[in-house]
Amino acid sequence: MSIAPGSEVHTCEELLAGPEEFRIAVEKIVISHAVNEYYGAQVFDEPAVALAPSPYAKWLACRVAMEEYGHHVRFSDLGEELQIAPERMTTQHKQPLSIFAFDLNSWTEFCVIKILADMAEVIQVEDLIRCTFVPLRKLARMTMPEEKFHVQFGLDFTEEILQTESGPQDVQNVVNRYYPMMRKFFGRPNSENNRIYRKWGIKQRTNEAMAEDYANRIEEVIVNRFGLSLPESVATP
Ligand SMILES: [Fe+2]
Ligand SMILES: [Fe+2]
Repeated sequence: MSIAPGSEVHTCEELLAGPEEFRIAVEKIVISHAVNEYYGAQVFDEPAVALAPSPYAKWLACRVAMEEYGHHVRFSDLGEELQIAPERMTTQHKQPLSIFAFDLNSWTEFCVIKILADMAEVIQVEDLIRCTFVPLRKLARMTMPEEKFHVQFGLDFTEEILQTESGPQDVQNVVNRYYPMMRKFFGRPNSENNRIYRKWGIKQRTNEAMAEDYANRIEEVIVNRFGLSLPESVATP
């Protein structure tokens, strides 16, 4: 059976026997998630357990760290089924995202990052939930409730921090430092990779549309809900 752009692919075997462009595009997404979920868990989520201010916060931070490591495990398992060499799913071969180049030192930083970074991940996973490659779609469906929980975790603890005297200024400082780092997350406008993802139905939206959606959701939280400000829009190239 030949695979045309837009048709569903139900198994890894089918993908491996299908068009090279489709397979390579799926590989890129799987590798990127496998690398970045692991790297992010190491530099943000696991250290956050030590920074958490109470047993309750530590417990939930452990859950977040466990789930981020779990996302790596799921994506690398799928990568293995797609016969991707394990070393291609490591930072030796693939540079982690620039959003992780932040020296995490405080609980406030972690909670704000869970809003700013994981909201972007929710938007990415939303696109994969309708992916034509069914194993990736299933993986996205399992991952989505956990990514939404990470954003909610960030919102709940940040709201607690905002009740303290220095809270609003502390949160604003992290937003000012971290939000501009999210600019690169959605990729360049008119990206060739994104065009191929949409051609095969792996993703539904352009990088620009996702960045705009992200900017709107973040504005809703930071400006409308928290009464703080945003340093600049990530939707403006
Ligand atoms: Fe994740
Ligand atoms: Fe997450």
